[in-house]
Amino acid sequence: MNDAPSPSSLERADKLQGMGCKRKRVEDVRFTQGKGNYVDDIKLPGMLHGDFHRSSHGHARIVKIDTAKAKALPGVLAVLTAEDLKGVNLAWMPTLAGDVQMVLADGKVLFQNQEIAFVVATDRYIAADAADLVEVEYEPLPVLVDPFKAMDADAPILREDIKDKTEGAHGARKHPNHIFNWQVGDRELTDAAFAKAEVTTKDLLTYQRVHPCPLETCQCVVSFNKILGELTIYGTFQAPHVIRTVVALIAGLPEQKIHVISPDIGGGFGNKVGAYPGYICSAVASIVTGLPVKWVEDRIENLSTTSFARDYHMTTEIAATRQGRVTGLRVHILADHGAFDACADPSKWPAGFSNIVTGSYDFPVAHLSVDGVYTNKAPGGVAYRCSFRVTEVAYAIERAMDIMAQKLGLDPVDFRVRNFIKREQFPYQSALGWEYDSGDYHTAMQKAIEATNYRALREEQKGREEAFRRGETRELMGIGVSFFTEIVGAGPSKNCDILGIAMFDSCEIRIHPTGKGIARMGTKSQGQGHETTWAQIIATEIGIPADDITVEEGNTDTAPYGLGTYGSRSTPVAGAAIAMASRKIKAKAQMIAAFMLEVHEDDLEWDVDRFRVKGNPESFKTMSQIAWAAYNKVPPGMEPGLEAVSYYDPPNMTYPFGAYICVMDIDVDTGVHKVRRFYALDDCGTRINPMIIEGQVHGGCTEGYAIAMGQEIAYDESGNVKGASLMDFFLPTAVETPHWETDYTVTPSPHHPIGAKGVGESPNVGSVPCFANAVNDAFKFLGSTHIPMPHDAYRTWLAAEKLGLHA
Ligand code: CDP
Repeated sequence: MNDAPSPSSLERADKLQGMGCKRKRVEDVRFTQGKGNYVDDIKLPGMLHGDFHRSSHGHARIVKIDTAKAKALPGVLAVLTAEDLKGVNLAWMPTLAGDVQMVLADGKVLFQNQEIAFVVATDRYIAADAADLVEVEYEPLPVLVDPFKAMDADAPILREDIKDKTEGAHGARKHPNHIFNWQVGDRELTDAAFAKAEVTTKDLLTYQRVHPCPLETCQCVVSFNKILGELTIYGTFQAPHVIRTVVALIAGLPEQKIHVISPDIGGGFGNKVGAYPGYICSAVASIVTGLPVKWVEDRIENLSTTSFARDYHMTTEIAATRQGRVTGLRVHILADHGAFDACADPSKWPAGFSNIVTGSYDFPVAHLSVDGVYTNKAPGGVAYRCSFRVTEVAYAIERAMDIMAQKLGLDPVDFRVRNFIKREQFPYQSALGWEYDSGDYHTAMQKAIEATNYRALREEQKGREEAFRRGETRELMGIGVSFFTEIVGAGPSKNCDILGIAMFDSCEIRIHPTGKGIARMGTKSQGQGHETTWAQIIATEIGIPADDITVEEGNTDTAPYGLGTYGSRSTPVAGAAIAMASRKIKAKAQMIAAFMLEVHEDDLEWDVDRFRVKGNPESFKTMSQIAWAAYNKVPPGMEPGLEAVSYYDPPNMTYPFGAYICVMDIDVDTGVHKVRRFYALDDCGTRINPMIIEGQVHGGCTEGYAIAMGQEIAYDESGNVKGASLMDFFLPTAVETPHWETDYTVTPSPHHPIGAKGVGESPNVGSVPCFANAVNDAFKFLGSTHIPMPHDAYRTWLAAEKLGLHA
């Protein structure tokens, strides 16, 4: 590589629109013109429509299902129940977490809105009307919604199918409603650290149950071709290849005869990783009727049945010295998994990567224990814009650090900085088993406090508190700080698989004779802009303009096998595969160029978009010339063509981090808040497209704001799901959404071919504790320690009431 690029090299580099450039999103050309192709846009000849009859009870035995009236409605072709599915051995399906789940209620229902019967009709509205005509006789059973009561001696037994099993997929079960206990860290050393600690804190920090809420719900169109024995499935799948393999395994169809296609997807956020009853029922209905069947979830179904997230109850203890050095961390998590354990985690991680709970701090010892339990709630446990339970534990550690700082009388920033892992400690081995690849936390925090003028804000806050005490204002000021470390890029095959398939990812690049090309990946964008950014990596690597590379994802017939897009794994894993495939192409191109220029390969050097002869820059071959030669003038013995495939198994995860600061004003008489400032500094290593990163941060912070300040899927004592419509579930619009200030530092990942880490999940992980800390910070001077999420106006008002502020 030439050390000092010439002006013409810089100009040529600009034209490539490679890495680091704010290339405009190419996918938006079709989206902004209403020309996206979503599942609901797919209309096949003779297509039928499916809809569910769902349970009105949270827990009940099914005495009888009468489908006669539904079947009698003109236009209805079939009504499936569990009895029909048993005929094809599909009444139950395996979950990603090693459990089994009813496809249609088999003998009992375990959560409200559970699928009981699937109606297939010629029209969506006839299907819905017929679903209402299905009659179910129930015998109500006692309902269990409180996870803390799940393992009581007199708790109702939910999963009668496994009640006598003392071993589950993740080890011993100590109660019929117990799923697993998972532990990591050194308990003895941790207990010893607590026994001699000068200061300790212990708090139950609950991250409430929420649901991802993509604008497009889960949906599919399934078409079975009886003559060819082929099944084509269009669906909102974040991981199309995994769906193909799961269908092959559970339906017993040859995998090459299953074609899974994810067209455009309108947001995923983890919601579209798993397999749902709607997919199975549509496939069976298509096989039974011989016609294509479409299933489209409505909003209430989406919010109340497909894939909850969080519901982690985290008892978090920190041990520290009086001077403010942490000496131990002890965490117990009670995980409410709902009626079936359908968590979408890599197989060996029943509680995801929750052992990242030590966060950005140098804890010498730590211990984490997680108990998963069944309750009468919807299954799921997905990583809602998060990398497998990372956001839950980021909330726990970031709240707990604030609480400890308060107890020690230290500023939350100063306490954090005192305990940061230092730059020279990377690669850093955490007490709970991870090797953090790179970081520079002190620089990031320093930049954040300077950018927000943090010290002045604290002075202002002091003034406000005094004014409040004097009765001159009813508005409190909270300053929220969070400093998160993420773990993304699942993952290395040594510790990550799904159903036994290692979590590598892939890229295939084909450069055509005219120097243009197509690249296909095993990932699937749901709005992240892969078509834009993947081409940028290729442009920089092989010198072909990004505009000349078409990026295609989501068709299992054409894309190389990959594990899909979730948990910010795309850049760390597929991004690396893209660079490696590009490098294979470049290596072949160098050989072709050497042959064309009649020099040895070692006599060539790379210059943006060409190989040139060292010391003779006028003698060169551009990638476009080389591409042409690859199809007619390759060196003797070389195969023609310019194509490469890479399957990349990362050696480690990547560990992005960030410093977030929020300034909030809260009216104690109404509980209403105003976000005055929100500053988000992210470090995701090498930045591929700064504009897309900014968009990711805006989106993630908006979802984090929604969660912290209002979202909750709660259940009443009878198992009725509350908040399952957008009338009740807080989805911020442009009106409520605060203004986001973004910033960055760059600490490349040492093991990633281009030094990039993921970013999509980071803002959700970092912003939730930041908002929560801001609310708590406002009330701290009045003696309040912890106000639980979500922080909607009523609950904030209630917190003020409890502190006697309304007297
Ligand atoms: O897996 P997912 O696509 O959700 O997350 P990601 O890997 O964090 O990438 C989200 C988007 O941000 C993609 O378009 C990436 O190419 C882009 N990105 C980037 O431009 N630079 C980075 N260092 C990381 C992500």
